[in-house]
Amino acid sequence: MPQMKRVKIKKAKSLKGETVPPPDKSISHRAVMFASLAEGKSIVRNFLMAEDPISTMNAMRMLGVEIREAKSKKSEFIINGKGLHGLKEPVDVINCGNSGTTMRLISGILAGNPFLSVLTGDDSLRQRPMARIIKPLKEMGADISGRAEDKYPPIVIKGKRLKAMDYTLPVASAQVKSCLILAGLYSDGITSITEPHKSRDHTERMLKSMGASIGVEGLTVKIHGSTKLTACDITVPADFSSAAFFMAGALMVPDSEVVIKDVGINPTRTGFLEVIKNMGAGFSLENVRDVSGEPVADIYCRTAPRLKSVKIGRKTIPSIIDEFPILCVLASRADGITEIRGAEELRVKESDRIKAMVSELKKLGAEIEEFPDGIAIKGQMDLRGNVVESYGDHRIAMALSIAALAADGTTTINNASCVDISFPGFFEELRKLHA
Ligand code: S3P
Repeated sequence: MPQMKRVKIKKAKSLKGETVPPPDKSISHRAVMFASLAEGKSIVRNFLMAEDPISTMNAMRMLGVEIREAKSKKSEFIINGKGLHGLKEPVDVINCGNSGTTMRLISGILAGNPFLSVLTGDDSLRQRPMARIIKPLKEMGADISGRAEDKYPPIVIKGKRLKAMDYTLPVASAQVKSCLILAGLYSDGITSITEPHKSRDHTERMLKSMGASIGVEGLTVKIHGSTKLTACDITVPADFSSAAFFMAGALMVPDSEVVIKDVGINPTRTGFLEVIKNMGAGFSLENVRDVSGEPVADIYCRTAPRLKSVKIGRKTIPSIIDEFPILCVLASRADGITEIRGAEELRVKESDRIKAMVSELKKLGAEIEEFPDGIAIKGQMDLRGNVVESYGDHRIAMALSIAALAADGTTTINNASCVDISFPGFFEELRKLHA
């Protein structure tokens, strides 16, 4: 990561213009990983060149996959897939950086590959829970362990043939679900995975389009082991979670009108749209189309004359999992008390996002109550600029930058270079819209 950057943001008069957010992070990870396991040459267009998906790309290269950038086209990669059984033992520890998606998904692949691998990550990732993948992978017969009695990374895996299983996830998580789907590809039968609530389904969509024998019925995914994956041609849409920051900015800043183009609107990701509609937001989805099996649209968003408070419960959390920080910011401008509950998962993200938003929004003058599983925010507060911390968490840094647009005076965001995890160029893009 570049040197810690400190960014100053002034209250905005309006946000206006058109923007294309960076490519989707979740889909970029999966495109490179799954293309590596396919038979033959795949093309991935509009890959997110940010720290997290680059961690995945480096990991696949360490496993012997040839990945090269197309000569004339930026962000386009050609991947020579090795097939499910063609990966090779890495000669060194695989460093997943800040990326939980890299570590959790690749563990599912490595559990079924007959060699030794060790996975580690940065200070944040080494404190994130891994028992959630280690326990079910062990049930499938995997030889896998983690630090502190399997709780945390580093993770050591000695891969082997796995057993199919039926498993119910205690917590909705696309990373855990995807890890087990990938392990299921290396098992000897049908693996069935059920989640308590629906999490993002990019894995299911992409594997299906690559010929995997995978079926979804309600909250259950069934995957047949040993089916070959065929090479693919994937165009990654813009990331809805990155778009959400600009939408929130346009809603809060007076006299704003922003068009956010080419955005993935997979319904397992867009709970934020439902929530802001209930808050009274004005937006529309135009030019809705399909891109590589994912729904995509251009989002038109304008100032909301009055935002209303809302109550958000457990069932909604998976579809707004990455939008929690920015929803806290919107709630601080809404009439009444907004409550977000059933959100304890937010405590184990890149930072404890409940704690981070409580402490930093308070510094900007918001009135907030913290619960073990969420937050209550009294809205319509006049935010005032201050010095705030990102905790090295990209989404906290970006959410606070949007809060700064509505806060009197100037806000300084410390340690802001972490935006490069998912959105390199975030501050430049914001400046372009910021009048
Ligand atoms: C992701 C799933 C989510 C999300 C993360 C990316 C993915 O995590 O928060 O940013 O790509 O599968 P969980 O599945 O752990 O909730």
